[in-house]
Amino acid sequence: MKDMTYPPAEDFVGHAHVDADRYAEMYKQSVTDPDAFWGAAARERLDWIEPFTRVKDTNFTLGEVSVKWFEDGVMNVAHNCIDRHLPARADQTAILFEADDPETPALHITYGELHEKVCRLSNVLLAQGVMRGDRVIIYMPMIPEAAYAMLACARIGAIHSVVFAGFSPDALANRVNDCGAKVVITADHAPRGGRRTPLKANTDAALLHCSDKVRCLVVKHTGDQISWIDGRDVDVKAMMEQVAPDCPIRPMNAEDPLFILYTSGSTGKPKGVVHSSAGYLLYAAMTQQYTFDYHDGDVFWCGADVGWVTGHTYIVYGPLANGATTLMFEGVPTWPDAGRFWQVIEKHKVNQFYTAPTAIRALMGQGTGFVEGYDLSSLKVLGTVGEPINPEAWNWYNDNIGKGRLPIVDTWWQTETGGHMITPLPGATATKPGSATLPFFGVQPVVLDPQSGAEITETACEGVLAIKDSWPGQMRTVWGDHERFEKTYFSDYKGYYFAGDGCRRDGDGYYWITGRVDDVINVSGHRMGTAEVESALVAHAKVAEAAVVGYPHEVKGQGIYAYVTLMNGEEPSDALQKELETWVRTEIGPIAKPDLIQWAPGLPKTRSGKIMRRILRKIAENDYGALGDISTLADPSVVEDLIENRKNKG
Ligand code: WTA
Repeated sequence: MKDMTYPPAEDFVGHAHVDADRYAEMYKQSVTDPDAFWGAAARERLDWIEPFTRVKDTNFTLGEVSVKWFEDGVMNVAHNCIDRHLPARADQTAILFEADDPETPALHITYGELHEKVCRLSNVLLAQGVMRGDRVIIYMPMIPEAAYAMLACARIGAIHSVVFAGFSPDALANRVNDCGAKVVITADHAPRGGRRTPLKANTDAALLHCSDKVRCLVVKHTGDQISWIDGRDVDVKAMMEQVAPDCPIRPMNAEDPLFILYTSGSTGKPKGVVHSSAGYLLYAAMTQQYTFDYHDGDVFWCGADVGWVTGHTYIVYGPLANGATTLMFEGVPTWPDAGRFWQVIEKHKVNQFYTAPTAIRALMGQGTGFVEGYDLSSLKVLGTVGEPINPEAWNWYNDNIGKGRLPIVDTWWQTETGGHMITPLPGATATKPGSATLPFFGVQPVVLDPQSGAEITETACEGVLAIKDSWPGQMRTVWGDHERFEKTYFSDYKGYYFAGDGCRRDGDGYYWITGRVDDVINVSGHRMGTAEVESALVAHAKVAEAAVVGYPHEVKGQGIYAYVTLMNGEEPSDALQKELETWVRTEIGPIAKPDLIQWAPGLPKTRSGKIMRRILRKIAENDYGALGDISTLADPSVVEDLIENRKNKG
């Protein structure tokens, strides 16, 4: 079957930053002479306090992995996102804030105001003894203060780590402890979809498991009653009024860490992905501009949460580095009803809109009635990220939101990559529904044979996706564990960065991401390690063993399927199922709640005791014909049992 191809929209030809020829020319230079390409980009796009003399110094050899860009340059990220824009943009809106409740008036925070807020918050942090290199946890609602906090850290050289507000106290405590944070910045409550998450209460619970030196800075956002510990808790807004409205920037080395962001892997606890200052910012700025074809004066809306990398790069750093107007939305797509996204787009005349396939599918399920009646004519580009987009969702987005006239950029990237890696550029790339298309500048994707690790040179092929050489936005290390960094990304396929995804390349050289090839699952675009959910389950007193796999889910993309073996003497029941669901919610957070729990008297194991996940995946998918060889199992009869139980679940 021939794939549908959509040529670049006519409106873009001649107006976009790059057309097809320019893309080819720039791409070629970016990979044949990365020093010239990135050196020029960094000089042009960033302000330097001390210029760099060296562009790229990177090594993917196992045992010597090291990634450095512009390493002797000195700069400051907050200066690049705020101060340098002031002469031209002091009165331009930097952050456009749309609250959860549609009745609450939107806020237009100008670059001038952003400067003052960030300076004041920087001074509050300094007054708490936060110094260059110290870690600050940000556990916040989607409010401007979250962005102020990130930028204040950048201003004074502290390293922030944003923890998604949907995570539980335990998950928060683990992150505070892993990075040795000095301060947690939180808020009283996070309103979302008409409900409120008690962030301060969660933080109180988390801090019981942390050093008593950790300070708690609280933004009083909803004004609801909260408990207060004198001497530990600080009222951020009140303090911001008392400190000076200006704060000098701290000159930082290009390679100083800007932030840590925890993400799930296939084994063990979440790892702290470390991103640099200059390389990350340059890559964020460049991808935001080119991928969305952002032009001065446009209103840009990335609908992600700042708790994920997408929010870091495309709500805060990329747009602000470009002097853009970035929309920050506190709410959810389906509240008060499934027209909320479209209402916000109409209200603020949004030009570029970026969301996830899971949101599109959820809205698609509500019918087109919620779209009709809104004026979406301001839109120029639509984006998607987080998981492969199925053709139904792509077509729905294209027909109903893009009205068949807008480019859709399906952007493949990861927390580890800092910014887009494989993506169409409007005006340059013909798109095919379901394909992330072609690499961004400087990115050299390769398809490897999963068994031999050899690079497949035929254009049309299938295998695992890896990247041949470094790009400035690449993560630098795992916080506190460089060995884990090397082992996770550089040991399976020597000499490459291994992304963990499978992919297909078609005859036109287009990349089609087929999903994770490791034990990471993608639930509503949220990355989840199956091992994390398993260890939460087995921490329950009644659970002897658990195995977790992903299975196809209509809206979420993948759902969480848990096989649970109970302790001797424990009986399966609906009540116990509820209890386990609640347990996982409190151990990790609501996003980790199993969608299906199957009681398993036994799990399929090899004679050496290794759980055969391949079999469990197939059973969860209701695909019993392709179980493969089960003769190596210690007790093949458990499989029959599991299949019987699976069938009962429908
Ligand atoms: C998946 C989110 C297909 C992929 C930015 C990757 C995608 C993981 C796409 C990273 C896409 C992300 N098409 N799959 N356009 N975008 N993925 O770290 O499996 O939360 O490895 O970063 O999401 O998820 P993460």
